[in-house]
Amino acid sequence: MTIHIGAEPGDIAPTVLLPGDPKRAIWAAEKFLDDARQVNAVRGMAGYTGTWRGHPVTIHGSGMGMPSLSIYANELIRDFGARTLIRIGSCGAMQPALELHDVILAMTASSVSTPSSTLLRELNYAPCADWGLLRAAVRAAEVAEITPHVGGIYSSDTFYDERADLSQALTRHGTLAVEMEAAELYTVAARYGARALAVLTVSDHLITGAALDAEARERSFGAMINIALAAAFDADAAG
Ligand code: HPA
Repeated sequence: MTIHIGAEPGDIAPTVLLPGDPKRAIWAAEKFLDDARQVNAVRGMAGYTGTWRGHPVTIHGSGMGMPSLSIYANELIRDFGARTLIRIGSCGAMQPALELHDVILAMTASSVSTPSSTLLRELNYAPCADWGLLRAAVRAAEVAEITPHVGGIYSSDTFYDERADLSQALTRHGTLAVEMEAAELYTVAARYGARALAVLTVSDHLITGAALDAEARERSFGAMINIALAAAFDADAAG
């Protein structure tokens, strides 16, 4: 039991999937896990633990933004022994060649700041995904006949961004997409020697203005969860 996670020791699996939205955690646990039971409900958050192909898995909301994710990532790793943490979420495309529904595997995550910035001080730290997880996710996506885009993303502190110049500079430097959590997830995981990856689906396009509706978001969420679960156990993602 920690300040933000009302679970008992052993209630949290070593493998944790982290959607931003707690409702998505409930939906994903019901749809993808066997014998799922709720292990956290503190502050309206949702965490469920069950099994996938016999492997124990927890699906726990991260909330929106790096300060929220940081709380859960710290407690999940430090207090509950999570070792593999995979963010599953949506992102806004920053390259013209990307399309809605495309799957992005975030190799690195740039940021202006993260909750870890104070600790890292003058360091321009480069948060990166765990290589083994990234490789397994590429394989899992390909088995599911999805060609993922692998590269750098931007973890922003603002959804309603007023710095068009910053977005343009990131686009010019090959950044694939923007979201709001991965840089801190990668940094916290690295600090504790845990494995982390962000598997993202393009839900909106910063250049074209295109956006998925709610139902389409849900469908593409399913493909992402299959890839994330298969990557965690280096299994195949079909079905
Ligand atoms: N900005 C930040 N986070 C996001 C976006 C965006 O445009 N789309 C999905 N997550």
